[in-house]
Amino acid sequence: MPQPKIKGLVLSGGSGTRLRPITYTSAKQLVPIANKPILFYGLESIAKSGVKEVGVIVGDTREEVKEALGDGSRFGLEITYIEQEKPLGLAHCVLIARDFLADDDFVMYLGDNFILKGVEEFIESFRQRETGVSAQILLAKVPDPHRFGVAELDHSGKVIRLVEKPKIPPSDLALVGVYLFDKTIHEAVRSIKPSARGELEITDAIDWLISSNYRVNSQVVDGYWKDLGEPEALLDGNRLALEMIEPHIVGEVDEYSKVDGRVEVGIGAKIIRSIIRGPAIIGPDAVIEDSFIGPYTAIGPGCVVERSEVEYSIILNESSISDIVRMEGSIVGKRARVAQRATLPSATRLVIGDNSRVEINKN
Ligand code: DAU
Repeated sequence: MPQPKIKGLVLSGGSGTRLRPITYTSAKQLVPIANKPILFYGLESIAKSGVKEVGVIVGDTREEVKEALGDGSRFGLEITYIEQEKPLGLAHCVLIARDFLADDDFVMYLGDNFILKGVEEFIESFRQRETGVSAQILLAKVPDPHRFGVAELDHSGKVIRLVEKPKIPPSDLALVGVYLFDKTIHEAVRSIKPSARGELEITDAIDWLISSNYRVNSQVVDGYWKDLGEPEALLDGNRLALEMIEPHIVGEVDEYSKVDGRVEVGIGAKIIRSIIRGPAIIGPDAVIEDSFIGPYTAIGPGCVVERSEVEYSIILNESSISDIVRMEGSIVGKRARVAQRATLPSATRLVIGDNSRVEINKN
């Protein structure tokens, strides 16, 4: 039997506020974790689940997003861009995607969310759903539910109600930014009114489905991560993504070097007299010389690390680190240079971007 068609609706709009100096992109969905934009993980997983047609909602950062995704062929997808003039809410995205979605089932994916195991299983379970199920939501236990949409379940695990960013959360189950819908959602998004923050909320649309007696299934996942704009959160996302990588060495590792565990060394990269202890990723054309790269580190394409020790850190494209022993829990932007100075005066010299943070060890 042919499988019912499922389309994708990927949200990559919103306003392009600069989150922190290291985001060389102003689209939060393009911030790299383990050397890859967050959004790519979602699209790859959607493609793996057999979805072909994806509508991508774009806003202020449309140029950057379009440049990164192109026509979607690199993911095996056909992308249709859907322009949203203002970020008027997640349900507004469904409204403006009506022509693209037609009456097909679809997976809606918020481009700044990361689900470690991908969404293939989740999409498959919607394909296999019982008659009468109109939507399926994905939930994750989080320590700070007040920052999310939160689900209230009854004792049998059935969703009774969803609340957006509640001051007093009814549970610690947050709505992960992945939803599956059939065509009934179109009636729901037309029936709701903007919330107090002026947005058409998808949580209200799902609540409308529940109170109109449509069935909404839920599933709880582990390994959920969202970029909350804090450096620590980014490092944590990087850690999660690195846990997934498969050892894969394409670049050169010389005979004096040692590569341990889950390590990816990209094409054209050179590891010279160094130790790389995974999980770690060394981007294409990067050079690591006389150095130690410790677990949970992502070294971007074209970086140079020499006579240094770097651990639990993110170094973005074409930056260099020289004679630093040792760097930990750090994020270095693109084309930055961090070096020890051998000449006098022995003062610290800094040229750092806005909103940066530098912590110099007193020793
Ligand atoms: O991340 C999960 C949370 O996402 C859920 O728990 C909440 O229930 C849900 O409302 C949403 O909350 P946020 O307030 O964090 O969503 P945000 O405004 O950050 O938008 C999520 C993504 O969707 C982001 O990649 C930008 C994009 N977006 C957002 C809006 C409001 C659009 O493309 N258009 C929009 O109008």
